[in-house]
Amino acid sequence: MTRRRALGALASVVDPRVYLHALRLLHFYGYAHVRQVRLLTRGADVSFAPNVSFRNAERIVIGAGTHIGEYSMIWAGNSTGRITFGEKALLAPRVTVTASDYGMQAGTPPMDQPKIERDVHIGAGTWLGAGVVVVAGVTVGDGAIVGSGAIVTKDVPAYTIVVGNPGRVLRRRVSEATEEKLRRIAWWDWSHDLLRERMADFRSLEADAFVAKYAG
Ligand SMILES: CC(C)(COP(=O)(O)OP(=O)(O)OC[C@H]1O[C@@H](n2cnc3c(N)ncnc32)[C@H](O)[C@@H]1OP(=O)(O)O)[C@@H](O)C(=O)NCCC(=O)NCCS
Repeated sequence: MTRRRALGALASVVDPRVYLHALRLLHFYGYAHVRQVRLLTRGADVSFAPNVSFRNAERIVIGAGTHIGEYSMIWAGNSTGRITFGEKALLAPRVTVTASDYGMQAGTPPMDQPKIERDVHIGAGTWLGAGVVVVAGVTVGDGAIVGSGAIVTKDVPAYTIVVGNPGRVLRRRVSEATEEKLRRIAWWDWSHDLLRERMADFRSLEADAFVAKYAG
């Protein structure tokens, strides 16, 4: 270590403001995560990174088996805007989902205007790539994939892949017939035990083989 770097490190260690800042960070994790997590409604086997930031978590419902990646922000509205996730949704790092916007009347700064809140739903078996933003009022259909960096401003049809800003459908993941069968199977309504029991098929079977086995 050079002398200059050593002095810089020493300055940080002896500066009381650094310790106060650490307390501010602790406070941040308290209000943005630890106290919010107790307000969430969540199914079995839900997981999220310890730095996921939640707001108004009493209006957030997370389906069983969903995972939320690091540095994601899940911000429900202050008064009505709800955010719901179906079962087994996968959120990569840095995904933002918000159920509220600031008002945009000219003449008043947005932060001083009442919020406009609209519900958001992220379907079962979805995958939102790194850095995706989902704005208020949007529904991402079951089984949809949203590519990294997409800004989702309109509903995403089920079982499609959406990319870009604004998000546009790239292609379908399965045929309409297979989608129909997946809806009939409705694996998201299976019990936790049944899901576990059939996990190997989930992981190994292509969609057509899966529906052939379970749609009868
Ligand atoms: C969306 C995604 C799944 C698409 O995969 P794919 O179907 O194999 O797509 P392709 O690579 O064949 O690309 C098809 C087209 O979409 C474009 N595209 C792919 N991903 C894109 C993205 N995230 N944003 C914008 N355009 C994208 C490609 O450039 C290509 O365009 P072109 O036809 O004009 O050449 C993938 O690109 C992606 O974004 N994965 C998320 C990765 C991630 O966030 N991982 C975090 C760990 S959970």
